[in-house]
Amino acid sequence: MRIFMTTKVFLLGIALLASVSCSKNTVLTSPDGKITVEQTMTETGTTELDVSVSGDHLMKISAAGLEALEADLSEGFFIKKIKRAKVDDTWTQPWGENKTITDCHNELALLMQNRDGVHLTLRIRAFDDGIGFRYEYETDADSLTVIDENTRFIFAEDGICWSIPGSFETYELDVRNQPISVTETANTPFTFKVGGAYGSIHEAALYDFPEMNLHRCDSLDFITKLAPRPDGCKAHMPGTFSTPWRTIQLADKAVGLINSSLILNLNAPCAIDDISWIRPQKYVGVWWGMHLGTHTWTCDERHGATTENAMRHIDFAAANNIDGVLFEGWNKGWEHWGGRQHFDYCTPYPDFDLEKVAAYAKEKGVSLWMHNETGGSIFEYEAALDTAFAMYSALGTEVVKTGYAGGMPGGILHHSQRAVQHYQKVVETAAKHHIMIDAHEPIKETGIRRTWPNMMTREGAKGMEWNAWSKGNSSEYLCTIPFVRLLSGPMDYTPGVFDIYFKRAAQYPGREEWNGDNSQCYIKTTLARQIANWVILYSPLQMACDLIENYEGHPAFQFFRDFDPDCEWSEALAGEPGEYIVVARRAGDRFFLGAGTGNEARTVKVPLDFLEDGKVYQADIYADDPDAPVITQPDGTRAPDKTAYKIYHKEVTSSDTLDISMSADGGQAVVLLPDIKSDSSTISGK
Ligand code: NOJ
Ligand code: CA
Repeated sequence: MRIFMTTKVFLLGIALLASVSCSKNTVLTSPDGKITVEQTMTETGTTELDVSVSGDHLMKISAAGLEALEADLSEGFFIKKIKRAKVDDTWTQPWGENKTITDCHNELALLMQNRDGVHLTLRIRAFDDGIGFRYEYETDADSLTVIDENTRFIFAEDGICWSIPGSFETYELDVRNQPISVTETANTPFTFKVGGAYGSIHEAALYDFPEMNLHRCDSLDFITKLAPRPDGCKAHMPGTFSTPWRTIQLADKAVGLINSSLILNLNAPCAIDDISWIRPQKYVGVWWGMHLGTHTWTCDERHGATTENAMRHIDFAAANNIDGVLFEGWNKGWEHWGGRQHFDYCTPYPDFDLEKVAAYAKEKGVSLWMHNETGGSIFEYEAALDTAFAMYSALGTEVVKTGYAGGMPGGILHHSQRAVQHYQKVVETAAKHHIMIDAHEPIKETGIRRTWPNMMTREGAKGMEWNAWSKGNSSEYLCTIPFVRLLSGPMDYTPGVFDIYFKRAAQYPGREEWNGDNSQCYIKTTLARQIANWVILYSPLQMACDLIENYEGHPAFQFFRDFDPDCEWSEALAGEPGEYIVVARRAGDRFFLGAGTGNEARTVKVPLDFLEDGKVYQADIYADDPDAPVITQPDGTRAPDKTAYKIYHKEVTSSDTLDISMSADGGQAVVLLPDIKSDSSTISGK
């Protein structure tokens, strides 16, 4: 109803032909005419789609659908009807990179039938930023046992791609940059460059179905593989159902992929009536210390989540314009994590006075974040969910961070149909109790945040934690994930370590016990880049993850005080995967710029034409110090001190251009404030 009142929607719904000959090609074109999808039928009755961009053939898609035990879902189809529709719509969301989204697409629906009496509608949408298609099945079967999906993506020529290996258990893997032709398996988003076209294969609206991976079956030919259930089949479905959308985002510049709204546009509108309780937040937490080994999740002499430490964090949040505080290790059960585990989601450890902490957070106006590590025990968690969330809600909890660090029972894979159902159950139960979710070890984001806007953010890639106990994440990796993982949606990377070389952590005895040789573990980017990551790595729940004592008195922490994750507008302005990235966002009347480079120093000229015309802004610039002294890093390598930074100020207007200079592994962050303080100070520090 809302659509009809507020937008321009043309649903042509023209039934073109009652029966369409197999040889006739049908073409779907994007609204700007650049992307074409030409449909043909094979002799065996499956649909093929030839995708071209600006006249260049990019790939053939064999839209061969699914295989099931009870009916033939992939072959012998003939087209009964073709329907076309055209949508030109705008819609708004409560939060997001952009609050207003344009949905402008052309649609082609092929209504087909086969010998088995299976009705299949192949619905294809072409947007200016890519295409999506899905299978809508209608059969006489009571239920279907899906054993495979046969969709294939066959590239017309080789190119390069950025992706993690295909895994149905984890996304916490390094992103590879390699020729498409040598990629054996990949998870999605699978980002590629072929000729002059950038693209990314992914999926949208993944519900009640396993995730898809890509497996190379021949040269440039990739078939989809679905995560199996423990019984070996892929999905148990009703006789009538639709698959998630299979998507290809397309752009002529790499940053065009980041600026695409295709994944969101292929999801259904918001399903929650009252969304007044959903709001982006900045947070700190009792967290990083556990990864460093300076604190523990368990209740011992180094326990992190004590009442005293919790109140210290609440005070810090209240004093620094930070919305929320996360407490990990507050509840009983951590001593068995990874073994014969049993987490108690309702009982705090004796040294964590939950009622007192909750009352103190309320008094200070700080949002309480509870943490539920499940270790993968999804049945136990499902049984506790309703009671635990009701209890958290009564305490004033706004956010629950979930975690699935451990194997799921009975051989259930993290990305299988049963797990997808579990993650969704958590989101819907949370919505009932007015709780927002931040999921770690999650199922990949497929745009369901549009329908369930309490599903705020998730991990789903190697996040900050990897720096604490492994070689960690390179600057190149951090320049790559905005073009790969983050195309799917927000990421809780948990940025912002200021103690780059873990100098303080090294003083704690627990660190050695936790991680043995720590020499490889430190932050591989500069401090200015850590700040820039708050802007670059989009998350509506954005963490300043370092130990709070590393922020106390630090001049550069002013950026986080000024930062607002509730943005209205965002644009990736420039960048190439693995090389560099520049992003601008607006929240209220403030703008934020975040830039990062890989292992090469670089200066990027950024025109400020996104600022409001005729207004003077104060630019507070957090930059790498070009004169940083060369030091010996913990692993013995020599490099300019990554902790060295400069903060300076400029008055700028929309006709100015900023020269963003970044050291190797560096970055730059800028706050553009509409109120001028005429600050000409420069602070250098380390
Ligand atoms: C892995 C999560 O990613 C991390 O954030 C959390 O601290 C640990 N699991 C413990 O739950
Ligand atoms: Ca993790």
